[in-house]
Parts: sequence; structure tokens; C-alpha cells
Amino acid sequence: MIINGKEIAQTIQLELAEKTKDLVAKTSVKPGLALLLVGDNSASQVYVRSKAKACEKIGFHSVILTLPEQSSESDVLAVISAWNNNNTIHGILVQLPLPKHINEVNVIMAIDPDKDVDGFHPVNVGKLVTGIGGFVPCTPAGIVELLVRNSIQTSGKHVVVVGRSNIVGKPIANLLYQKSSRGNAVVTICHTGASDIRYYTKQADILIAAIGVAHRITADDIKHGAVVIDVGINRINDSKSEKGYSIVGDVDYDSVLPYVSAITPVPGGVGPMTIAMLLTNTLTAAQNYAKSVQI
Ligand code: GUN
Repeated sequence: MIINGKEIAQTIQLELAEKTKDLVAKTSVKPGLALLLVGDNSASQVYVRSKAKACEKIGFHSVILTLPEQSSESDVLAVISAWNNNNTIHGILVQLPLPKHINEVNVIMAIDPDKDVDGFHPVNVGKLVTGIGGFVPCTPAGIVELLVRNSIQTSGKHVVVVGRSNIVGKPIANLLYQKSSRGNAVVTICHTGASDIRYYTKQADILIAAIGVAHRITADDIKHGAVVIDVGINRINDSKSEKGYSIVGDVDYDSVLPYVSAITPVPGGVGPMTIAMLLTNTLTAAQNYAKSVQI
């Protein structure tokens, strides 16, 4: 089975558009997402624009603010403070990575946890780890949604996550071992500290590759019949492409395809789900706001 993330993300966006209409009709609250980009990283520009476009499509309003690369940390903190205090903004997203001279942790900590639709604030991380709700980072939330909507059970399965980032590796592991119908897996996290990653990946019923290295996982790294979730978005030189590059995953798709029971392609797998879950979190933030101002 080839897991079609694009189609599932479109379905979710249609569902969200209906719920948004409902929220606006009942409360006059229109979900608002503010996006901050610092510098001119071309991949980040593409991501931010596509997030804003998705907002407009489903009836949210969105703001993109681009600050120059040499902006100071206090410039960034001032923008966040203004958005924290703006009632028309329900979700705040600071596109990462930030320029090196800006402390990422300070910036994330400045976002109101109730507007932290990326789920990166330690308050939301703590809620995820303890299993008490809060905003879940979008890519991991999208992976769980892909598994659920394709009836791929996780309970009792061995999930191996390759990669330990705060954005993907750590939160997906935390979601999948939780005692819940969407989790209950046995989870192994492996990373560059492992002397033999293959020893672990070959044991995976569900393998989640979030390494950031093109085609790192090959047929020799997986157990036959495994479900393979490819989180990688890597640019490789491609003279046949008009742009001069193409986007590939962390998994050598063609080599593993004959041996998997299900796989996410790149592009069109996990990627579109990240945006769908960002919109989901933003709608939740707006609904929470509407509830909080009800008399
Ligand atoms: N950079 C790469 N992925 C993400 C993400 O999910 N959110 C933000 N804010 N930045 C990112």
C-alpha cells in the first residue's frame, strides 16, 4: 500500500473548512495564524507561503512577517509579544531554523503556550510527555493521523524511530508509546550515537525515518512486511529537473518498495500532513479562544 498523504490532507482540510464555517457562524471568531520568517532561506520561504495559502483556502486569516537575517533576538521577541496580545491571532509559528545569532529556545519560550500551534513550547512538550493534551507538533501529529486513517494498528507493535529531533523524533516516540488507542506501541529511538542503526531498524514493524539524509534507509535496513514512514525532505542535484534539484526522502523508495506492507512517498506522504495538522491546531486554538471569551 502506498499511503497517500496528499489525499488525506485534502480530506482533513475539507473537514476543517466546515468546522471553521461553523465557528465563524456561531462565535464570529475567524481563526488567525501568524507566521514569522527571519532571513531568506529559500526552502523556509516556500514552506511559510504554502502554510499561509492553506489558511486562506479553508477560511482562516493569516499574516506573514519577514524580518531581515541580521535582526536581533529582541526584534523577534517584540513581534511575538505583539502577537501574544493580539486577539485576532490564535496561532503563532516561527519558522525554524532561525539565524545562528538568535537563541531558538528563548524565542519558543516567548510564545504564549495557548498560541503555540507548533507544539514546541516546553509547556506543550510537558503535556505531550505526561499525556494530558496540549498542542502536538504538526509532523508527528500528521504521522499518527496517517496511520489511523489507513487502519494501521500501532498497539503492541515495535516502532523504531530513526532521529531524535525536537520537531519529529522525540515527539513521535512520545505519542506512540502513550497508553491510548492511537499509541500503545513499544518504541525504540535510534540515532547517530548507535554503532549499528541497521540492528534496530531491521526489528521495526513500523519504521519512522527522520534522519535528514537522502536515501539513508535501503532494503537491507528493513524487515520484510514493515510499514515505512519517510519524514525526510532532502534536496538532491538533478540535472533532469527544471529547478536543477529534486526532493527525495530519507528512504531509498525504489529499493524498499518490494518489501514493505505500506510506505509513504516523498513528496506526497508526510509533508502535506504537516500543514493539515498545523491548520487543525490553529482551529483548536481559535475554538479555545472563543470558549474563553464566552460570557
Ligand atoms: N522547520 C521545519 N519544520 C518545522 C515545523 O514544523 N515548524 C516550524 N516552525 N519550523 C519548522
